[in-house]
Order: sequence, then C-alpha cells, then structure tokens
Amino acid sequence: MNKIVKKKNVHKLIDSLYQEIGKKIAFLHEPHIFGNEHKYILNCIKQNSLSSVGKYINRFENIISRFTKSKYCVSCINGTSALHLSLLTANVTKSDEVIIPSFNYVAAANAVKYVGASIIFLDINLYNLTIDVKKLKNYLKINTFKHGKHTINKNTKKKIKALIVLHTFGHPAELNELLKISKDYNIKLIEDAAEAIGSTYYGYHVGTFGHSGVLSFNGNKTISTGNGGMLLTNSKQIYLHAKKLASISKKIHPWKYDYDGLGYNYKLSNINAAIGCAQMENINLILKKKRSLFYRYKKRIQKFDGVKILEEPKNCKSNYWLQTLIFENSNKKNIEEFLKISHKKKMFSRPAWKLLHSLSYLKNSEIDDLTNSKKMINSVVNIPSSSFL
Ligand SMILES: Cc1ncc(COP(=O)(O)O)c(C=O)c1O
Repeated sequence: MNKIVKKKNVHKLIDSLYQEIGKKIAFLHEPHIFGNEHKYILNCIKQNSLSSVGKYINRFENIISRFTKSKYCVSCINGTSALHLSLLTANVTKSDEVIIPSFNYVAAANAVKYVGASIIFLDINLYNLTIDVKKLKNYLKINTFKHGKHTINKNTKKKIKALIVLHTFGHPAELNELLKISKDYNIKLIEDAAEAIGSTYYGYHVGTFGHSGVLSFNGNKTISTGNGGMLLTNSKQIYLHAKKLASISKKIHPWKYDYDGLGYNYKLSNINAAIGCAQMENINLILKKKRSLFYRYKKRIQKFDGVKILEEPKNCKSNYWLQTLIFENSNKKNIEEFLKISHKKKMFSRPAWKLLHSLSYLKNSEIDDLTNSKKMINSVVNIPSSSFL
C-alpha cells in the first residue's frame, strides 16, 4: 500500500498544505474578485442594460480574442452550450460518432448526446491525464476504414466526425499530434479548453488549434462570470454559424420575428460579460498567483514519499487551474480515506470524475482499452487551488 495514504501521513500532508496557505478552511476553487467587477455591474444596472445586448458583450469577446489570439469568439451562457455549438457547426448528427476520453467532465458527453451522436470512449496518458495519442492512433488504425473523405467505424459503419480533446485540469493535450491525426483522418478537432484559459502549447493558446475550442467561466474557473462560456474559432464561417445558432437563428431585423431554422437561446448576458471584462483585467496576475501556488505546494509535497504534484508538460504552459496530487500505487480506498480526512479538516479536496463510460445513460457507448483511466481515477485528488491562497 502507498505509504502516504496511511492515516498519520495524510494528516501530516494536509497540515503541511494548510501551513503553506495559512488558512483553517479551504474550498476547491473560488472566484477572485478584486478589480472593477462591482463598478461594471453597476454600470449595467445604471444603463438598464442587463440582457444579451450591451456594450460589455462585444468588449468581452474582443478581450478574449486578443488574449487567446483566436480570430473569432462567440460568448455563450456556459461552456456546455459552446461545446454543443462546436458539434453543431462541425455538422455532427445522430448518424455520426465522436471520440472523447472517458476520464472527463460530463459536459463533452452530454453535448454529443444533445446532437444525438454516439460516443467512442478512449484512454488518457499517465503523464498529464490528457488523451493518449498512441492509443488514439492505434484505435483508428485497427477499427476504421476510409470511405471517400470520411473515416468509418468498422464495427458500426458510422462516420467518426469529431474528436473532443480535454486539456485536463488546465494541462495542454498533445496538440501537434492531435492536429495531424485530425487532418489524416478528416475528423474535426474540438478542444474542450473549459478549464484552460491562459494555458499554451508551444506558445499558442489552447482552444485555437482545431475546428473550434471552448472556454468556461463558471464559478469555479480561473476567470469567472458567474455562468458563462466562449467558443473560439479561426474560421469566419464557423463563427457566423455559431453566432446565428446562439441567437435562436433569428433573422436580423429591427422589429420582425423570423427565424432561419432551429436555434438556441445561448447568448451571454451583458451583466455576465461585464464581470468577465473586469476579471480579464487581472488575468495575468491571477495566472501568476496560481503558478506560484503550484511551486509552494510542490516544495511541501516533495517532503512526502509516494505522492507528487502534476506538472505542466514540456514546451507548454499550464494555467494550473487545479492543483492535482497523484498518489503512487494507490487504490479506491486510499483516495476515499484521503478525502474523508481532508473534508474533516475542512480542506475540500475532490477526486477525479467518475469515468464517463460507467454512467448508466452512456453505457451503450463503444469503449477502447481504458487501463490508464481506471488507474488514475484511483490515484488523483485535486486540492484547493484558488488564486488568492
Ligand atoms: C472540462 C470541462 N468541460 C466543460 C465544462 C462545462 O462548462 P460550464 O459549466 O460552463 O457549462 C466544464 C466546467 O464546468 C469543464 O470542467
């Protein structure tokens, strides 16, 4: 059994982390509000401009566009709706399949289900918990054939239309390799960068490599607008399509109600965007503080055997959204023991997500070898990571 997960050592580890942050209670991730948030919200109220029309919406989209260097941005009510729009603009339908990792937040799987498509669950790598590129290549080589320009699943005879990669806890996936696979197999690459604002791969912001990328600004993210999300794309066509869908496909006209087709009420409100504008004024400081928290925790954790903290991959910058502990040779019981002690001490650590292929409503999906996912689910704990700690 892993040494660190002996009760006595868990207490010591948690006490040491508490000493570092100088607190007696710590939540997993809270917003850090110390700028113009109040002022901008008040402006919205004074100007009677709360809805999905208002000056902060364009301003927020432009700020994110400049920050990520994504040519176009579509603000949305949340990250999940932006994932849904990504699949709709990639023309994924109920007769198609989408590849996603099983070690994942549930939003990507739900978005695939919203368009009625089927899921193929693949594995993650052990070194940064993002999709295992070797296994992905192998899966495609063995299980698919080309028909015209499409990649067809040999087992189901369905087209594999998209691949949604996750930049897990803010750590960039292997985008060069993934982009090549996406081109070779004509499978659209969608980046779930919901957790990864500020993370870069060889200097380029994640979420800007493939068909589209998605950011989330919910209450537990690095930058929060309360609820909110953003679709990033470098294609004008995808941008215009996503913008239209997010605005209930309404034809632009000063007073007429007319619609081009089925649309979605996904536009972000001015008041949420106002908070986002204020938050983004401090993004660089927030990222700096999160990086510094990583180094402070690392120094503490190095003193314990059998546990390490997840580090950013080479040639990448992670935003360190969540600080992740990885226990060697641990099992489900060890992780539960850690979480029990941690919660008793009011340190609200969290495990990784339940593997998606095991959720009852997703059970009919195809699964590949998921050895690494199964191992890591019993090895990983996220500890308090707010930028003000
Ligand atoms: C990896 C991942 N994808 C998607 C989402 C969905 O974002 P939202 O909660 O804004 O819908 C989240 C966050 O909640 C997430 O962590």
